[in-house]
Amino acid sequence: MNDPIRKAVFPVGGLGTRFLPATKVMPKEMLVVVDKPLIQHAVEEAAAAGIEEFIFVTAAGKTMLEDHFDACAELVTALKAKNKSAELKMLEAIAPAGTRFSATRQPEPLGLGHAVWCARHLVGDEPFAVMLPDDLVLSGTPCLKQLVDAYGRVGGNLVAVMDVPKAHTDRYGILDVESDEGTEGGLASVRGLVEKPSPAEAPSTLSIIGRYVLQPAVFDELERGRRGAGNEIQLTDAMAELIGRQPFHGLRFAGTRYDCGDKVGWLEANLAFALARDDMGPAVEAALSRTGFARSTNR
Ligand code: G1P
Repeated sequence: MNDPIRKAVFPVGGLGTRFLPATKVMPKEMLVVVDKPLIQHAVEEAAAAGIEEFIFVTAAGKTMLEDHFDACAELVTALKAKNKSAELKMLEAIAPAGTRFSATRQPEPLGLGHAVWCARHLVGDEPFAVMLPDDLVLSGTPCLKQLVDAYGRVGGNLVAVMDVPKAHTDRYGILDVESDEGTEGGLASVRGLVEKPSPAEAPSTLSIIGRYVLQPAVFDELERGRRGAGNEIQLTDAMAELIGRQPFHGLRFAGTRYDCGDKVGWLEANLAFALARDDMGPAVEAALSRTGFARSTNR
């Protein structure tokens, strides 16, 4: 029996420079996709996978993220006074009963691996999930749930993976694949991992997107503080050390991933998520065809 995944770490200390000027004051994780901040999309996905404890690794200027999941007595009183029950329900759903939120700081921006290591005391000695809120996945079964279900079958460590264009391998953690079921929902068994290799050096085009299920042994590897790509302490490098000692798989998740740290990716996510919704999809589709968007419009 594999230990359950009860905790998820959300590294949210990044500056979001790709999204300036929007992110000059506002954390990039507060960027809204349709009507919810990215961080709420990520938390809801984690909750749907059975996560009970949400651990934010933050930095200066990120307190808004903690506030978003905190109680807001003033707003509740105002909504009650006005009998706004739908809005009240929406507020309550942000941090459902039985869930816990905590935050710790990453004192210096030393890389994703370092950010995860900063949460070691809050995670303790149990397997856990890591979620990168920039990566938003539209899918039938939430992406982390797919990963946790696969973990129930094979145990050990798992990362969500998808094929990327060869020219883009230097943006991702890339798998060196031992065997690969190759189908949607299939598993790839991993013999190595490389962070951001050049296309010429990449062992495959199968890349990690921001969903992980990890064993606590990864903290011992992160503890060593070895620097990797970009002179940062990389999660990918620490995970690579676990291969051979523990099961390690990539899951070809079912769904579409949007890079919401990128302006075009974020716009695309807004359209895809709005179109997928029953309450507004048809209206958005009608608006899009009415406008007949083209680059020449309104220039
Ligand atoms: C991080 C990880 C990388 C992963 C990517 C997914 O990179 O280091 O392995 O493929 O997230 O989005 P970053 O995007 O933070 O540079």
